[in-house]
Amino acid sequence: MLIETVEALIMRLLMLSKGQLISYPREAQKLSNITWPGGEVEKPRGWVIATTEKPLIIGFPKRVGFSEFATDLNYNHSAQGYCIDLFDEVRKLVPYEIPFRFEPFGDGLKNPNYDELVRLVADGVFDAAVGDIAITTNRIKLVDFTQPFCATGLVVVAPIVNSTSSGWVFVKPFTLEMWFSFSTLFKANYENPISTLGRIVMVVWLFLLLVITSSYTASLSSILTVQQLSTCITGIDSLISSGLPVGYQEGSFAYSYLKNNLNIHASRLISLGSLEEYESALRRGPKNGGVAAIVDETPYVELFLSTQTDFGILGLPFTRSAWGFAFRKDSPLAGDMSTAILKLTESGQLQKIKKKWFCKSGCSDERGRKPEPKQLNLSSFWALYSLCGTFALMAFFLFLIRAIRQYIRYKSRQMDPSSPTSSISSSILFSQAIHNFLKFIDEKEEAIKKMFAQPAIPPTQARA
Ligand code: GLY
Repeated sequence: MLIETVEALIMRLLMLSKGQLISYPREAQKLSNITWPGGEVEKPRGWVIATTEKPLIIGFPKRVGFSEFATDLNYNHSAQGYCIDLFDEVRKLVPYEIPFRFEPFGDGLKNPNYDELVRLVADGVFDAAVGDIAITTNRIKLVDFTQPFCATGLVVVAPIVNSTSSGWVFVKPFTLEMWFSFSTLFKANYENPISTLGRIVMVVWLFLLLVITSSYTASLSSILTVQQLSTCITGIDSLISSGLPVGYQEGSFAYSYLKNNLNIHASRLISLGSLEEYESALRRGPKNGGVAAIVDETPYVELFLSTQTDFGILGLPFTRSAWGFAFRKDSPLAGDMSTAILKLTESGQLQKIKKKWFCKSGCSDERGRKPEPKQLNLSSFWALYSLCGTFALMAFFLFLIRAIRQYIRYKSRQMDPSSPTSSISSSILFSQAIHNFLKFIDEKEEAIKKMFAQPAIPPTQARA
């Protein structure tokens, strides 16, 4: 029996060596439960990436400016910000525990250098980095990024003119010379031309009036609706060729991009760390030690523009990028976190976290500005209303003075010096005078003129 079994075994081994399939009896195929390392019979749902004793060290930027994105709360040394909240939600969707410890990166005096933060992950100082970290070509060589959680791109921000807030916007379509010839607009044909030549001249004249009026309307419409630039910078190309100082965000990859990719000399690049510094540098302008424009990623610019009306984005983003979390090369966590980020995006939770941080006082549109209705308000026309009011008042007072003078002359002609007036009280006299004056005003001007054209009637005859 034993020999038979050994023979059968040898036969099977021979067949196996010849590459033939072995079929086991059905009973032999019955496998018992698997016991996993550690004695667990439940199928494990992931990897043990870290333990409570040895948690992951996750670096995050300790920002000074734009701290809404990620920073360290000094009083309790805990991480907070949009990216931190996002990470907390993402890790809940990873199917296993991730014991970790946050470690701030930065001295708290200025914004940290993001290239340096990524390098620390690659060097093993941090196991991962969480924050508003742009996925760039240089960084992707050092670490593994998760799927992006926020789309960004570099844009140019510069001062713009807010035309609708200027009360004198209506004078802008014409130059001074044009306004001197403005009266011609109202010299329409008061008299009918008799000759053919006269009609030809009149037609050309009316055409000129039509063109001038339409041009004024078109020009005013464009001034009121299209963003007006207050400098010669219209986009990144004109900014590069202008030779003027350019602002960039302290610690950002924008510096190396402007210097190495766009060949802007380092002496032209001014580091700016906060919203206040952005505003001050743009207001001062290149002549007063400021900058002509700032180049930064869209989320920061949107935040900046949500509180500003004198600055705007020129053109479209000239680079396309995104933010992701950085992990050490070949870390299995990067893949699982990516899946979790996608889940969070699909559930709409990602957008909610963004709103929580950046839409505190009402939400904004794609470019970070509160949607401004394309409406003109009273301030756009205050000068025009004031001019109308002033001229109307002046005309009214002139008319009143003239009418009073005419009335006095009219009364002095009708007055009978011998008529007794002493018995009538002065108040009755006054109200009578007002009544007569208003009646006098009501009379047609022509009638008054006619009356003055007639020779004066002596009061005695008038009475008769
Ligand atoms: N968001 C700044 C950087 O990634 O450099």
